[in-house]
Amino acid sequence: MTLISTTPMLRKAKKNKHGIVAFNVHCFDSIFWVLEAAAELKSPVILQTTVGTVQNLGAKNIVEAAKTAAESYNIPTGLHLDHCTDFDVIKEAIRAGYTSVMIDASMHPFEENVKRTKEVMELAKSLGVNVEAELGKVGGVEDDIVVAEEDAQKAVPEECKLFIEQTGVPTLAPAIGTAHGIYKGEPDIDFDRIAKIAEIVDVPLVLHGGSAVPEADVRRCVSLGMAKVNVSTELKNAYSEAIRKHFEMDPDSLDPRAYLQKAKEAAKEMAKSKIRMVGSEGKVVPSFV
Ligand code: 13P
Repeated sequence: MTLISTTPMLRKAKKNKHGIVAFNVHCFDSIFWVLEAAAELKSPVILQTTVGTVQNLGAKNIVEAAKTAAESYNIPTGLHLDHCTDFDVIKEAIRAGYTSVMIDASMHPFEENVKRTKEVMELAKSLGVNVEAELGKVGGVEDDIVVAEEDAQKAVPEECKLFIEQTGVPTLAPAIGTAHGIYKGEPDIDFDRIAKIAEIVDVPLVLHGGSAVPEADVRRCVSLGMAKVNVSTELKNAYSEAIRKHFEMDPDSLDPRAYLQKAKEAAKEMAKSKIRMVGSEGKVVPSFV
């Protein structure tokens, strides 16, 4: 199976009332073990990279690795560019073969967000590439994008409707109280707001800041129409913690296969727990999309 657009994947997930996890991957290895985890659970999955990872690994290399992994593991796989503010990087990703891109113009006023999202839609739509946009402002840290707690803003439902009418964007990430990174306390998720948005727009919604959100809350978000659930921090933590532990036990360790294998196992378990949480286990059937 080759990489597929995330638009039909997410529409189908929304219709069938389950989510699909979009895992942020930061190295080539992680592309393979995320797909291995998803394949073991027969789950569709989305790989996503930030702009920093594109700069680090190269868009073409990421696409080639993701294609190879999608073919080896034979599960529906999307490749998404996360939080991009730069039109040139979006073009580069689409040319390289990403099947989904996020234009994050949420730091601009509504009209400017509409304008920038429309520009990306013009490029992506004819190529069958999914587009995601953000309304409101998700707090926290995601690579170079930092939104202080006091600057985070929840999305206004009526604006979500207007935004979709004006841009035609097929997936929307409304800020609803989650944040990127580690929470200081419990996330303050506004479920009524999600319900209101889902009532007046019919596109699949995207939950950013999926790490460390209590399982029941993630399930509730999914049941309300959040079809894409982004997870980055917890996967990085599981991976790094396993490596840290390895070196605590064996500070002179030399063989990367030894510690990377432990890191892979820990991260795979974490990925599997997230896949089960959104209810996409066993959803790969021959007619998936
Ligand atoms: P976390 O780092 O909180 O999992 O958020 C990931 C995310 O939303 C990526 O866009």
